[in-house]
Amino acid sequence: MYVTAVKADGYKNLKNVMITPHPEYNLITGMNAQGKTNLLEAIWLMTGCRSFRGSKDRDYICLDKNIMELGMSFYDGRRTQKIEYAMSRENIKDKKIKLNGVPIKGTNGLFDSFKAVVFTPDDTELIKGGPEKRRSFVDLCCCQLNGRCLDSVRRYDLLLNHRNVLLKSIAAGKASRDSVYVWDQQLAAIGTFVSGKRHEYIKKLNKACSELYSRITGGREELTVSYNSNIFGGNPPEENEGNDAVAKYYMKLSDSVEDDIRLGYTLWGAHRDDLIVKINGLNIREFGSQGQKKTAALVMKLGQAEIYSKNNDETPVILLDDVMGELDESRQALVFDIVKNMQVFITACNENAVKGLSQGAVFRVEKGEVTQY
Ligand SMILES: Nc1ncnc2c1ncn2[C@@H]1O[C@H](COP(=O)(O)OP(=O)(O)OP(=O)(O)O)[C@@H](O)[C@H]1O
Ligand SMILES: [Mg+2]
Repeated sequence: MYVTAVKADGYKNLKNVMITPHPEYNLITGMNAQGKTNLLEAIWLMTGCRSFRGSKDRDYICLDKNIMELGMSFYDGRRTQKIEYAMSRENIKDKKIKLNGVPIKGTNGLFDSFKAVVFTPDDTELIKGGPEKRRSFVDLCCCQLNGRCLDSVRRYDLLLNHRNVLLKSIAAGKASRDSVYVWDQQLAAIGTFVSGKRHEYIKKLNKACSELYSRITGGREELTVSYNSNIFGGNPPEENEGNDAVAKYYMKLSDSVEDDIRLGYTLWGAHRDDLIVKINGLNIREFGSQGQKKTAALVMKLGQAEIYSKNNDETPVILLDDVMGELDESRQALVFDIVKNMQVFITACNENAVKGLSQGAVFRVEKGEVTQY
């Protein structure tokens, strides 16, 4: 999959941007605060996901403007598709999105169409941050592979919220204890499904990441990624163990109802799962160096790209924000080698910071305007 054209106007500081990227390497350069990351973000929005910097919808629009308009064409391996994405300050919630000229409701249609993997310096939070970062990463990866997961993940969150509200009502004497069991049956079924999908994915991720990490460190270090399910521990259910697993999940929920009512939230479930990343057998979160954490986070993203490519007939587009400068030349060369069959967009302040880029397009960003070389 590769992007053939990008247009952006009024997205943050981007002005009248119109570029035709190279199918392989694209280097985005410029001084600090000129709009390089904004350009990557504009491309990322076309995946239907929210800003990878956590910007709120209203902050997508340039402070001096009332509308923002984005457009992108991409080749998905079979045909060229076109996305138009606009928003106005008057009605932030009402995003005007068109896929191949046809208006679509919400961003789900984009999520199914355009696939990208992004790596930013903040991604070290995948290693350093709390379990929720790792869970959302795995959930996004699962959803990218299998659209059905998206509904399940959303439904799980919804059911969990309902259950938590109900627990508080029970504590306040406004609802009966019996009402919680209906929710528990649904939560157990969907939670088991989510855990199973995460487990399936993490097994693939472990294989991909340990190979990639070993390549990047010249075989000196071994990286492992494993799943720690809050309900099932290190051995979550395989697909065919469905019913027993759901029963086990349900029992955990029922056994903890009294505690949950007292606390006002659900103690057990898929919302407490974690992903354990180790180097040479030691948990990297506690024992890893800065460089190891950064490399491990990058490898997880490259692993995501590799798994997607293996499961589909096409590769995702790779967006790398400020990554190369901090890697030494041999690691840079390996990263280029790993992504060599994919379209890559790389930002760097200094053109020379990216060694090994012998071909492709260079874009210079200055005050939100982009010049193509
Ligand atoms: N809603 C907005 N309206 C106008 N300008 C904005 C908006 N949001 C961010 N900006 C501007 O965008 C610029 C930052 O862009 P960006 O983060 O893409 O820079 P960058 O080129 O990646 O810089 P660095 O090299 O430091 O990472 C800042 O000048 C900021 O003021
Ligand atoms: Mg930046």
